[in-house]
Amino acid sequence: MSQSLEQFQKVYAESIKDPEKFWANIAGEEIQWFQKWKKVFSWDYPNYQWFVGGRLNITHNCLDRHISAGKGDTTALIYLNEKYKKKTISYRELLRQVNKFANGLKSLGVKKGDMVVLYMPLVIEQAVAMLGCARIGAVHSVVFAGFSANALRERIEDCAAKVVVTSTWTLRRGEKKELKSTVEEAIENLGFVRHVIVLQRDGEKFELIKEKEVDFKGLMEKQSGVCEPEEMDSEDVLFVLYTSGSTGKPKGIVHTVGGYSVYTHYTTKKVFDIREDDIFWCTADFGWITGHSYVLYGPLSNGVASVMVEGAPDYPAPDHWYKIIAQEKISVFYTSPTALRMLRKYGEANCKKHNFSSLRVLGTVGEPINPEVWLWYQKNIGADKLPIEDTWWQTETAGHMIVTLPGLRQKPGKAGKPFFGIDADVVDASGNRMPVNGKGFLVIRKPWPSALRDCLNNHERFEKYWNEIKGVYFSGDFAIKDEDGDIQVLGRSDDVMNVSGHRIGSAEIENALVSHPAVSEAAVIGKPDEIKGERIKAFLVLKPGNVASEDLLADVKYHVKREIASMAVPEEIECVASLPKTRSGKIMRRLLKAKELRQDVGDLSVLDK
Ligand code: PRX
Repeated sequence: MSQSLEQFQKVYAESIKDPEKFWANIAGEEIQWFQKWKKVFSWDYPNYQWFVGGRLNITHNCLDRHISAGKGDTTALIYLNEKYKKKTISYRELLRQVNKFANGLKSLGVKKGDMVVLYMPLVIEQAVAMLGCARIGAVHSVVFAGFSANALRERIEDCAAKVVVTSTWTLRRGEKKELKSTVEEAIENLGFVRHVIVLQRDGEKFELIKEKEVDFKGLMEKQSGVCEPEEMDSEDVLFVLYTSGSTGKPKGIVHTVGGYSVYTHYTTKKVFDIREDDIFWCTADFGWITGHSYVLYGPLSNGVASVMVEGAPDYPAPDHWYKIIAQEKISVFYTSPTALRMLRKYGEANCKKHNFSSLRVLGTVGEPINPEVWLWYQKNIGADKLPIEDTWWQTETAGHMIVTLPGLRQKPGKAGKPFFGIDADVVDASGNRMPVNGKGFLVIRKPWPSALRDCLNNHERFEKYWNEIKGVYFSGDFAIKDEDGDIQVLGRSDDVMNVSGHRIGSAEIENALVSHPAVSEAAVIGKPDEIKGERIKAFLVLKPGNVASEDLLADVKYHVKREIASMAVPEEIECVASLPKTRSGKIMRRLLKAKELRQDVGDLSVLDK
């Protein structure tokens, strides 16, 4: 329910005073447990656990319990693509398919704790595969289908996946992009990958490689539609999701079942003021945390219909998404500022052609939203009145952290207030609170239920989150807090860029660049971009004997695409004689950026002249 500021402040104050009591109440009321926890929270700094000793299965909460409550025939998922082909699936049928897939995994020898990598299009079968893993306690790690074979291989190797699930192709802007062949390349000579499950689309029959490849539908056909959910410990791992950091290597962020179930369920419910008959459309892909928490687990746990659309926002026409909102009677619409900036560019006339009266709550995620875009969104899509939930959060937090709930006064461009139970602050490098409106680091003072538990194979990296500024979770973002306590997130404080709402580390791209035979050194910065938020610029020092010809630069770009993904390809490349470095040899990206943007270059005392 929408609420007043007084109500919010009262509940918020209680949740901060005694978070254990607060979360225990929510966990007990909102989530079904096979066995109740013995201890709500334990904190052996920096490690923590929630709902210790509790047993549950997230698929039971997302599926079985709604069926038991008589909602079996309610729509769980709605799939649409750029040809307006539509498929829907009810909660009952989704459970049957999840069970079949889960039994299929078991028949391939997959057990609780085994890693399964998904490299799939945004289709219902991917939801079935994710939930199928969760049903038996296998750990899914979804890799966005835009990543290259090399990037996929790096992730498969890091988590030692036993099984990879893929599809023959995905559809984008009228073109089929092959996925299976990318997987073949990615797993070459990786003996530990025992099986590749291949979803063949539209009745196609591909030649499958006998030793490894298994047909997705064929595997399910043979199985029973019943599979008892594995009774998972609260702290058993649900999934690993890779994300970029400031080092060259992506981090495998680990999330566990209990805290994640409680937090994503509750944030979905409160932030979007969920109602039983909602048609909920979060435009994210399963390859990102937003897809995990607010396309799949959050909406399904709340028993609403969740929409997924395979393809681009503006294809086949600029009003593609508007048409879907009107046709499907979407009530909650949650998207990224990049998508909104793109839609805005196409003009308001497109909005006026469609009926948006079904909409109740709007949202944004992934990057700061410019106030003028916020206002445009509310005026043209939100009938000049709907609440816009600007949600700040991260792969590591797994759920919304800073957001102004419906009913509270919203300030365009400011995410606003910490969610219930979230003790957020803006501090200096020593952890001291910044004065009102002072720019500082956004930190969280205490673990919350869905906080990351680990970085796969790198516990030290996990500890760094809690040690960068002693005693608090370091988000890596700059922020300011105003006189009302509303927080505005300004962007990353580290060498991580945000391109179209996707996180990408400068070091990762630099690694790819210097692996090109003609490149000796590389530095990458983000530059402001009207649509994408940031765009990538690379500075290169070429190896002797190479000239910066158009062909060479095109080849360098292609190389980055092969090494990482199209979204990591620098839009601009400048070849230079040398890069500015500190005396210890570290490239000063800050200086390059300041010069590029014609800003004050700041303190240069560490520069090696
Ligand atoms: O810089 C912040 C930005 O996205 C980063 C997290 O990226 P990722 O882990 O990929 O998760 C994105 C989806 C949750 C943050 O460190 N960010 C996310 N939401 C916002 C945001 N920046 C400003 N405002 C937001 N609402």
